[in-house]
Amino acid sequence: MTTGNVRPADMERITTPALAEKFIAEQVAELKAQIGDKKVLLALSGGVDSSVVAALLIKAVGRQLVCVHVNHGLLRKGEPEQVVKVFRDEMNANLVYVDAVDRFLDKLEGIADPERKRKIIGAEFIRVFEEEARKQDGISFLAQGTIYPDIVESGPVKSHHNVGGLPDDLQFELVEPVKLLFKDEVRVVGKALGLPDNMVYRQPFPGPGLGVRCTGAITRDRLEAVRESDAILREEFAKNGLEGKVWQYFTIVPDFKSTGVKNDLRTYDWPVIIRAVNTRDAMTATVENIPFELLQHITQRIVTEVKGVNRVLYDLTPKPTGTIEWE
Ligand code: XMP
Repeated sequence: MTTGNVRPADMERITTPALAEKFIAEQVAELKAQIGDKKVLLALSGGVDSSVVAALLIKAVGRQLVCVHVNHGLLRKGEPEQVVKVFRDEMNANLVYVDAVDRFLDKLEGIADPERKRKIIGAEFIRVFEEEARKQDGISFLAQGTIYPDIVESGPVKSHHNVGGLPDDLQFELVEPVKLLFKDEVRVVGKALGLPDNMVYRQPFPGPGLGVRCTGAITRDRLEAVRESDAILREEFAKNGLEGKVWQYFTIVPDFKSTGVKNDLRTYDWPVIIRAVNTRDAMTATVENIPFELLQHITQRIVTEVKGVNRVLYDLTPKPTGTIEWE
């Protein structure tokens, strides 16, 4: 069993498929021994860490793992569908899919303050997960995708992903099979477990999701504009070889409009802002130098394909002074 929260000095860095296979075999044996015939609960966001934990547990205990995927309406285009396809359809996971979209968006209605939005999303997530946990009989363990930097840095980045703050009657024993791994090692393990590349190599995505990219009070139509423009940006970055090269890239739709013109008629619509940054640790960041022709092509696609948008801007601001996200 992996005990303690300190990575042993002699622990080999998992850099190759062979080392990943060795880690997987050891973990599966340990998980089987630890869990026996009991049931494990996991909040499965579809991010690389929780996905790797799910795949390990499915290998070890199969349908004794209960995965709960909460769709809070703030995920990227295609993500909830992919979680269902990969885990339920392909890996035969015991997956509970919770459509909580209306619930989250109703709670967030009219709330413009960024920190209040984050708090509502975090608290509502715990509430939904708690409700699902109560519907399950005989859960003994709670699995989490904690990784080593979460332990040593206990930084802000992960706080919204982890299911902290569950009430006393839902305090299960923790199962954290990747807690001594660094992110790059989790990816090597994920690849060896057969997870799709876009899950294994995906860019960081904040817990509050697209909610912090639909600035101010979230509306459904503006959220849709964020989701659709983000999908176009990701598609074009993938086509043009930027996917693995740029650390984080996304679009923002702010809560103001400007005048434009389309088919000889004046429009009054939102702008889409593109952000594409590189960083080592997210504390500082530089802006990616995107070929101008590609920016023009993406602009053309967004103003043509995304409803309610008449302008596209590129954010040239490094961190500092701008943060990576806009909220
Ligand atoms: P900022 O905007 O502070 O972001 O420069 C640094 C990194 O953290 C991510 N981020 C978050 N992640 N919950 C998260 O899980 C959050 O509330 C949150 N806010 C920012 C951001 O995407 C970037 O990678």
